[in-house]
Order: sequence, then structure tokens, then C-alpha cells
Amino acid sequence: MQAIRKLAHFLKPYWLWAILAPLAMLVEVVMDLTQPQMMQRIIDNGVAARDMNYVLMSAGLMIVFALIGAIGGIGCTIYTFKASQGFGADLRAGLFRKVQTLSFRNLDQFDTGQLVTRLTNDVTQMQEAVAALLRIMVRAPLLMIGSLIMAILTAPQLAFIPFALIPLVLAGVWWIISRAYPLYGEVQTRLDSLNTVMQENLAGVRVVKAFVRAGKEIERFGAANVNLTNQLIKVARVTAVTMPMMMILMNVGVAGVLWFGGNQALAGVMHIGQIVAFVNYLQQTLMSLLMVSMLVLQVSRAAASAQRIEKVMDSTPDVQNKPTALREFAPRGRVAFENVTFSYDGHAGDPVLKDITFVAEPGQTVALLGSTGAGKSSLVHLIPRFYDVTGGRVTIDGVDVRDIDQTVLHRNIGIALQETVLFSGAIRDNIRYGHPGASDEEVIAAAKAAQAHDFITGMPDGYDTQLGQRGVNLSGGQKQRIAIARALLIKPTVLILDDSTSAVDVETEVEIQAALVEAQSERDQTIFVIAQRISTVLNADKILVIEDGQIAAQGRHAELLVSSPIYRDIYDSQLGSGNHGGNGENGHE
Ligand code: UTP
Ligand code: MG
Repeated sequence: MQAIRKLAHFLKPYWLWAILAPLAMLVEVVMDLTQPQMMQRIIDNGVAARDMNYVLMSAGLMIVFALIGAIGGIGCTIYTFKASQGFGADLRAGLFRKVQTLSFRNLDQFDTGQLVTRLTNDVTQMQEAVAALLRIMVRAPLLMIGSLIMAILTAPQLAFIPFALIPLVLAGVWWIISRAYPLYGEVQTRLDSLNTVMQENLAGVRVVKAFVRAGKEIERFGAANVNLTNQLIKVARVTAVTMPMMMILMNVGVAGVLWFGGNQALAGVMHIGQIVAFVNYLQQTLMSLLMVSMLVLQVSRAAASAQRIEKVMDSTPDVQNKPTALREFAPRGRVAFENVTFSYDGHAGDPVLKDITFVAEPGQTVALLGSTGAGKSSLVHLIPRFYDVTGGRVTIDGVDVRDIDQTVLHRNIGIALQETVLFSGAIRDNIRYGHPGASDEEVIAAAKAAQAHDFITGMPDGYDTQLGQRGVNLSGGQKQRIAIARALLIKPTVLILDDSTSAVDVETEVEIQAALVEAQSERDQTIFVIAQRISTVLNADKILVIEDGQIAAQGRHAELLVSSPIYRDIYDSQLGSGNHGGNGENGHE
């Protein structure tokens, strides 16, 4: 319930609709309450007295009242729709905005499937609860109490019947809700699983096909699907009792009214019209009671969804701007790691990086070399603050990255991630993703430097070529080069290329490097290159050999050949021994 209250402010912009809806409903309820009265009058005063004029007049009046009620009802529906849909849309947008602010570590905690369920199904649950509240919250209690009063006024002798039935209905409803409610939480959890399987499969459908796992995946999806269905059936089995139970109780009530009322009518102390009106009021009372109960169920169900939404809304990004964060910052690009320790699980976990200390001077190229899982990507992710260090500090021009406004920091760092992610849309837009205002010349210059210009212009639509989702219609190396162009376009002070040429042939890689060196000399860019191929790093100003989260050796190629056995091993395994001459064997510089 607390979660609902916290999210209630999303309804604020729609307060006018949210007030008008119950007011319009009030009109409908009042009109509804007059109907049995009118019926009674028609029967007792009109039909019994054979007064056709009275019957016609009253019937006409009934229709007029019904019409007024209908207008109120329609108004209520429209206002409710405006308020609840607006609320839902804003909540969805707010949630999406929140997800965008989350840090890498926050995002590690949520499966994509979970986020999808929260953004869709959970928001819909809340939206429906708001709609139900606006419609029923006023209608049902008013109708219930109004009908009860009218029933008593109509035939006080029969008043004991509703009072006997109400506790029975309440007990039945309580039995249903207390059984159904716990089942609903599990429905959302199973929906999460289903969405996770679905999302993983749609994203990885090519891998599924390649490994002929379609059968297994269909099974996995089927299992999640059946799980969800079973749970929904379980819920339905409980709630299915509701209507039959109501009908039985209601008919018992009607039978009671007819029995006691009939006797009194025969004795001449009661009119037929009174009995008809009483039956109507009794039915309205009980149905309204049921509606109130169902509303309670729906709201408590929405409370479960609200809690799940709140969990996302509530997670504070652990990478945040300090109030004093630097907003003006034009660094030269001296990147220093000072005794940096880092673990993915905060202070508790095993460190992935241990005591890393080195300096990258402006204009230098620092290459990171090391076996897979050594911690290279983790290390460079600390520079743009994708994660915060656990110990020590990372500085740019002597300023701790945690003291720099993130937007400003990111504007100075161009990064091509190890796993290339492109967006659906034109190639041009993908390249200028980090700087949408870039001119065509700038886009082309970046593409040329990344050795992407030729293959792009070779495509029928050139820079306007539409990429499929995640750039499916490009080769791995082509995607990588677009990602490099995207990083280059923002003309960053610090450029990070995480294994960005792994899918590019050696010749193209050499050309990319030459272009980088040229750009670097213009701007004094600091470049970090992670590479598997030793040929990529031969000319680096500094090579860091990362072993098991530590710097095993650092220096230039020639120095490391002498001083580092690990480096020599890597070198020998890739380029063969007897080739210790250093630069040049690949034909560049
Ligand atoms: P890295 O991802 O930093 O290794 O993971 P790397 O050197 O770049 O490896 P390659 O060359 O790209 O393959 C370092 C360690 O951190 C853990 C991994 O299990 C690995 O042992 N790790 C990585 C996490 O725990 N969580 C992550 O999100 C990423
Ligand atoms: Mg890596």
C-alpha cells in the first residue's frame, strides 16, 4: 500500500478528471436508486388502479432518469479513461526515465525480462486499479448504502433479510480474497520468467539456430508458459466461486423476500410493488458489496505491482554526480590510476583488479594486453565511471573521476565497447549517436578514420542505409568500425577501444591505427587500446600486461621483451621467436 501511495503523484496532473469521474458517477448512482421506487409506484399506483396515464407518465419519467444516469455513466467512463491512461503513460515514462539513470551495477541486478514486465504488465495493473478505483470507489459504496436505506424505507418488515445476508457475503468474499491474493504475486514472478526466456531468445535467435537448440528453447519457453498458465488457472479456480456463491446467496434472499413478503401481501399488509422494489434494492446492495470486495482485491493486486515498480524507482544509482561535481572541465587527458582495487560486488567480493597504478600522459597510446578474463575491460570501464573503484582512485588531469559531472566526463571520453551495440536506423545516425548535431563532413571524417567510409559508400544507400535491429545486416568487422567511428566522432580527449578491431583483418587494423595516430597528433588524444594481437600494440607508448587483475609488467615493447617473461611468451606464441627486432615486421611504420 505504501508503494501505491508513493506512486500516486503520477495521478496529480490528471486531478480534474480524477475528481470529475466520481462526480459523474454520483449522478448515475442517484438515478439508479430512483428506478426501483418508480417501479413500485407504477405497480402499486398505476397497474393496481388500472390508471394507464399514470403508468405512461411514470414510465416516461423512468426513461428520462435512466438517460440522465447514462450521461453520468458515460461521463464517468470518459473521465476515468483520461485519468487512468494519463497516469499509466506517465508512470511508464517515469519508469523508463529511471531505468536510463541506473548505473551498470544497478542494471546488473535486473534481468531485461523483469524490466520488460514492470514497464508493461505491472504498469497496466496499476492503471486498471486506478480506473477501477475512480469508477467503483464511489459507485459501489454509495449504491450499497443507498440501496440498503431504500430497501429499509420500502419495507421495514423485511429489513432483516439483507442484514442476515451481508455477513454471509462478506465471509465468502473474505475466503476468496485470502486465497487468491497470495497467488497473484506468483503470477507476476512467472510472467517475469516468461519474459526473460522470450527476450533472451529473440535476442539470441541466431545462436539458437546455429546450435540447433530450437527444440530445447521451445521446451524452455513452453515450460515457462505452462507455469504461468497453471498459476492463472489456480487463481481462476479460486475466483470462479465468486459469481455462483453470489447468485446462491442472492436467490436465497429473493426467496426469503417472496416467502415473507408474499405472506404479508396475502394478508394485505404489503403491496406487490413494495416486494418488487425490495428485491431490486436487495440485489443492488449485494452486488455492490461484491464490487467493493473485488475492488479491494484489485487494489491489493496493484499493490504487488506497485512494489515491483517501486523497487526499480527506488534503486539509487550508485554512480551519481556529487553536488560539487565539476561542470566545467576541459582536460588535457592525463589519466592516472592510483592503487586502484575493484570488485563487482562492492567491498565484500573478490577483487577483479588489485592495486593498479599507472599513468597515461596526454597524447600517449596505452595498450592493455592479457589473457581473457584478466580484467582489461573492467579496468577501462573505471575511466568513464561505468563502475566506481572499490579502493584507490582514477584521475583525469589530477581530478578524481568521481568529482566530475558524468555528462561532462562522458563528453570527454569516447569508447567502443567490446560488445558492439548498434541501433536500428540509418548508419549516419548510428555514427553521430553521441553528437546528433554533427555535420555530414564530420561523420564522413570519422568514418574514414575508422576505415568504414569505403564499405559504407559501397552500399546502395550509403550513409542512409538502414540498419536492422542491432545492425544485423553488417558483418562483425563492419559493425566494429562503425562503433569506432561513433567513438571518434565526439573528438574525445580520451579514446578507449576495447578489442575493437578483433573482427577486422590485419591490414585494415593497420590503416585504422595509422588514422588514429594522425588524429592523435592533432589533438593530443590519450588512447587506450585493448588487443589480443600483439601486432596491435607494438607501437604503443606503454604496454600494460594484465595478469589476474594485476599489472604484471609495464613498459614499451622493447623493454618488455627483455624484462617480462610473460610478455615474451605472448610475443613468441604470436609472432614466433627469433623476431625480437621490434617494430616494423607487419609493414607499418
Ligand atoms: P573482464 O571483462 O575485465 O576481462 O573480466 P577481460 O580482460 O576484458 O577479458 P576478455 O579479454 O575481454 O575476455 C575480469 C573478471 O571480472 C569478472 C569476470 O568473471 C572476469 O573474471 N566480471 C566481468 C564480473 O564479475 N562481472 C562483469 O560484469 C564482468
Ligand atoms: Mg574484455
